[in-house]
Amino acid sequence: MNSGPLQQVTFRSFATADRDPLLKLWRACDLTRPWNDPEDDIRQCLANSSSALLIAEQDRRLCGSVMMGCDGHRGWVYYLAVDPDCRHQGVGRALMAQAESWMRERNVPKIQAMIRSDNLAVRGFYGRLDYRDGDVQLVQKWLKDVNP
Ligand SMILES: CC(C)(COP(=O)(O)OP(=O)(O)OC[C@H]1O[C@@H](n2cnc3c(N)ncnc32)[C@H](O)[C@@H]1OP(=O)(O)O)[C@@H](O)C(=O)NCCC(=O)NCCS
Repeated sequence: MNSGPLQQVTFRSFATADRDPLLKLWRACDLTRPWNDPEDDIRQCLANSSSALLIAEQDRRLCGSVMMGCDGHRGWVYYLAVDPDCRHQGVGRALMAQAESWMRERNVPKIQAMIRSDNLAVRGFYGRLDYRDGDVQLVQKWLKDVNP
């Protein structure tokens, strides 16, 4: 049985009161970019039945998150984040296990994550969880006026 710090971690759905600490967490984890509106990402996630936002808490303090979505074909994870003070205790692995369960419950056959090119070191984390590099190149097009 796990008797380490992970035992103190609980997981639950996002609640409105989580918004400010969550935005702070995402900034601390360098997951925000000027051309993305994280509050709008939260709004869209909550408004859509094919997505969900999960929070990890330790001692009633928000310490991690993962956003999950299914596009009808594949499952995606976004905003996987663990507070820098809570890393290397298994919280990231546990969040990904929760995301995988969410996908399995919806019969999603494959789970994927996009890694920014300036964050490729995180591949090591995914590798420990048996995720492998996909043989794909992402192409994209903005459908609203932004200046990345
Ligand atoms: C990636 C992140 C979520 C990992 O969280 P964490 O709670 O420290 O991860 P865990 O403790 O659950 O680690 C799970 C395994 O991955 C390994 N690991 C963790 N971070 C790693 C890294 N940066 N490189 C290589 N391996 C790593 C751990 O050693 C552990 O291995 P083991 O269980 O086989 O011994 C966290 O570092 C983070 O929030 N990073 C910034 C945000 C980010 O990059 N998100 C992903 C965007 S695609």
